[in-house]
Amino acid sequence: MKFSLTTQDIFKLKTDCLVLPVVNNAPFSMITKKIDNYSAGLLSKIKNSGDIDGSCEYTALFLEKSSVANQRLLVINAGKTKKLSVDELKKLLNAIFAALKTTNSKTATIILDEISVNGHDKNWLLEQTVITLSAAAYQFNDYKSNVKSLSLEEINFITNKANQRKQQKILQQALSLVVGINFTKDLGNTPCNIATPSYLVKQAKNLAKQCKKLSVKVLNEPDLERLKMNTLLAVGQGSKQASHLIELHYKGSTTNKAPIVLVGKGVTFDTGGISLKPAANMKDLKYDMCGGATVFGVVRAIIEQDLPINVIGLIPTVENMPDGNSFKPGDVITSMSGQTVEIVNTDAEGRLILCDTLTYAKKFKPKTVIDIATLTGAMMVALGPINNGLFTTDDNLAKDLQQAAKNSTDKTWRMPLEIDYQKMMDSKIADMQNCGPRDAGSVTAACFLQRFVNAEQSWAHLDVAGTAHQRNNPIGATGRPVPLLVEYLRQQSKKY
Ligand code: BES
Ligand code: MN
Ligand code: ZN
Repeated sequence: MKFSLTTQDIFKLKTDCLVLPVVNNAPFSMITKKIDNYSAGLLSKIKNSGDIDGSCEYTALFLEKSSVANQRLLVINAGKTKKLSVDELKKLLNAIFAALKTTNSKTATIILDEISVNGHDKNWLLEQTVITLSAAAYQFNDYKSNVKSLSLEEINFITNKANQRKQQKILQQALSLVVGINFTKDLGNTPCNIATPSYLVKQAKNLAKQCKKLSVKVLNEPDLERLKMNTLLAVGQGSKQASHLIELHYKGSTTNKAPIVLVGKGVTFDTGGISLKPAANMKDLKYDMCGGATVFGVVRAIIEQDLPINVIGLIPTVENMPDGNSFKPGDVITSMSGQTVEIVNTDAEGRLILCDTLTYAKKFKPKTVIDIATLTGAMMVALGPINNGLFTTDDNLAKDLQQAAKNSTDKTWRMPLEIDYQKMMDSKIADMQNCGPRDAGSVTAACFLQRFVNAEQSWAHLDVAGTAHQRNNPIGATGRPVPLLVEYLRQQSKKY
């Protein structure tokens, strides 16, 4: 989908469909008034009919060809009030997109003048509108033979000369975020016989070719052995696919400021290993690399936005398979940190590849470390598909991430990370076990990771098992938490 801004007069504008959301209890905006006059009071009539109600159904009230200068006019019930909530805005935009699809329009112009959102300004509205409509237009058709593409090709917004420059910047910013989000979605949705660890390595190298500020380093199994990254290696041991640790170095700042390190879980398929998962929905475990895919998407977006900040992305990538050579429950493995881990369940594999990567990350002397992982089913139980789970003991980092969550609408809920839970991970024969009791499963997973991070290191763990992909989402991968992290980095780059 293409997006553009125009300062053209509404009646000179060439568009196949003029989309006009109208609200009930506020006077018409300037443009709406113009269209109302032009169409002999049509909009006033609709307004007086009582059909613009608070039902929040956002239905199309009127669709006609050639009512305004040879264009279709699509009038949408945008509810009773002028101020929408964020959720109402998204519902409205999805309704607009659905209504547009019922026309054969190639181009559409959406008038946002009647709309405003609680706690946010017009620039934010434009950005979120572009992101939400892009998500509605997202398709993943790489493996379908006969694809009917959308007739809609371009969506256009009206601005004025005074705001044009600023809004053009906002639009560009939104589009670069969309590039990142869609990259993450594509990687997540790609089937797991294609999207293997070596496929992710190839993606990293391709990305580096496109950007001077990005360099890539890949650690292969001999390198990982030399570094004694034994818990990482253990997980991939049963797979025919070689394991890798991918490093993405984005140097956006000319100074040598300490980097922000993002660590993303890249399990390209998680069978559970010897502790095999049940068959139902096992195919969804192709999404177990969504943490890694998020790091790819974030780096892609900040390249597009040319953010002046130093970021290192680390993606440990493996396949967790049962095999004669697999690691087993009962094994004790010495991690890169020197701490020993008793394997209780080979399905608690994400933390094993992350813990060695968190140890490895120390060498970059990071300002902040954030890991992103589809780590526990328990996270899905706790927060469902709505909120990302945030674990950190750093209140300032929590504040920054929660502010970024609000701005980006990528909802995030802070979970406890307290010493009281640590003992649940103690082992009788090793320094710790890789999995605790059923209780507080997402908290104990975070506690496990915490044992590999220095207390003075600013660090957060995002468990996105419920949010990175959704079974009832038509296209699977959601691209979350790319919006959260790009917004966070954007704010950090201002202080850099
Ligand atoms: N990747 C899974 C968690 C998961 C499951 C995410 C389904 C999204 C959908 C993770 O590796 C896992 O299997 N976790 C176990 C941990 C347990 C063995 C302690 C879980 O949650 O059951
Ligand atoms: Mn698992
Ligand atoms: Zn997993």
